[in-house]
Amino acid sequence: MTHRDLIATVRRTPLVELRRLAKDLPGRVLAKLEMRNPCGNVKDRVAVALVQDAESRGLLKPGMTIVEPTGGNTGIGLAFVCAIRGYRLILTMPETMSVERVALLRQLGAGVVLTPGILMIDAVAQAQKIANELPGAVILDQFRNPANPEIHRRTTAMEIWQDTQGEVDSFVSAIGTGGTITGVGEVLKQKRPGVRIIGVEPANAAILSWRPGGESPDSRNRRRIRPGSLEPCNSR
Ligand SMILES: Cc1ncc(COP(=O)(O)O)c(C=O)c1O
Repeated sequence: MTHRDLIATVRRTPLVELRRLAKDLPGRVLAKLEMRNPCGNVKDRVAVALVQDAESRGLLKPGMTIVEPTGGNTGIGLAFVCAIRGYRLILTMPETMSVERVALLRQLGAGVVLTPGILMIDAVAQAQKIANELPGAVILDQFRNPANPEIHRRTTAMEIWQDTQGEVDSFVSAIGTGGTITGVGEVLKQKRPGVRIIGVEPANAAILSWRPGGESPDSRNRRRIRPGSLEPCNSR
């Protein structure tokens, strides 16, 4: 089998049984190996989806620039997709991002703009400023873009459903934007109403359990998986 390009190799990651881990448990525990995606994580799916969605809606055309605030894996995924599709990419992120990550992004051809401090909100503002000033620039906004959870409805969820022949009782996911748990959770619940959907977040970066008036999650942690809010395209 041949593939048109690396983008076409995203998805269809294997589900592997963790037998030693689960040896004393009544059920099977399966890990979905998202590291088999070209850039090594689940966000490759989202990067491809954001770009393809913007192309199909006519928002992204040859010669245009994508600007995105992300120091995370979506940035790496976008850098790889943009390298293949020929778009210029500018990523904004807090200066505390690791030098290895910045070097990797630059190696993939992305422009990296570092913002002072640790807060993602400053990187978001900087991305907005660049997009406003640069002709032909577009922000795809993984946090608000419905294409994010949608790719998990169409691919991640269906792969899990098919590979388990529907024998799935619980789904556990880390939460960044909430796209994975929203997309997969909705489909699995629809197909099997009793399924348990469990989101995991670091104790010291507890955004889901944060309530207005509590100590700001931003002040408590530097390296967390989520930038600080659940956005409208995702379920709470
Ligand atoms: C490696 C990895 N796994 C999972 C997630 C969570 O994904 P989501 O944004 O869909 O909640 C992230 C988010 O940043 C991630 O980088």
